[in-house]
Amino acid sequence: MKAFIFDLDGVLVFTDKYHYEAWKKLADRLGIYFDEKINNRLRGVSRMESLEIILERADRDYTDEEKQAFATEKNETYRNLLSQMTPEDVTADVRETLEELKRRGHKLAIGSSSKNTKYILERVNLIDMFDAISDGTNITRSKPDPEVFLKAAEFIGEEPKNCIVIEDAYSGIDAAKAAGMTAVGIGDASGYEKSDIVISQISDIMKNDVGNH
Ligand code: BG6
Ligand code: MG
Repeated sequence: MKAFIFDLDGVLVFTDKYHYEAWKKLADRLGIYFDEKINNRLRGVSRMESLEIILERADRDYTDEEKQAFATEKNETYRNLLSQMTPEDVTADVRETLEELKRRGHKLAIGSSSKNTKYILERVNLIDMFDAISDGTNITRSKPDPEVFLKAAEFIGEEPKNCIVIEDAYSGIDAAKAAGMTAVGIGDASGYEKSDIVISQISDIMKNDVGNH
């Protein structure tokens, strides 16, 4: 029986658009060019690493204190956007798929780099769907390092080879492969050749080619 480990942002909920909006506001204020293509490089990587990627285009250096303040500022904007989320922000496809997988007896876990994971899951009323949550609060290295997924497997007591990861980030697909798991790409990662399987909607993971991989 396979276990499923879901990335959160951009897979179960469309918070990736809020990450973009919040970073864009900060980048505009600092006069730094930022667009959706650069935003794709932030998928799966930690808040501070995301900031470093944005600052690659800055024309001056910033101190560590300034960087901390920028990360806090971005997170405040982001949390403001998240505070408007409700259970309606989860598609029927996502909710029904999670319910069906649970009904079939699969273990379900979250593997996200975000420190806002529990807050988001509570807001959209998904927190009780998961047997374990591995997130930005229990890791020291973010994706593409496999730590977040290996911890998720450990939390649910499953061997990595029996775990299927669903990811929208290139860094997340690399992390899943490095963990020895099956990597399913959706959204941005559906264009990544290292994805073992590509799906266009979450319910596609109930198709046999995913479970039998
Ligand atoms: C990941 C996002 O899920 O979480 C990244 O894909 C983000 O873009 C990372 O930087 C960290 O998120 P947070 O909520 O801890 O700032
Ligand atoms: Mg993601």
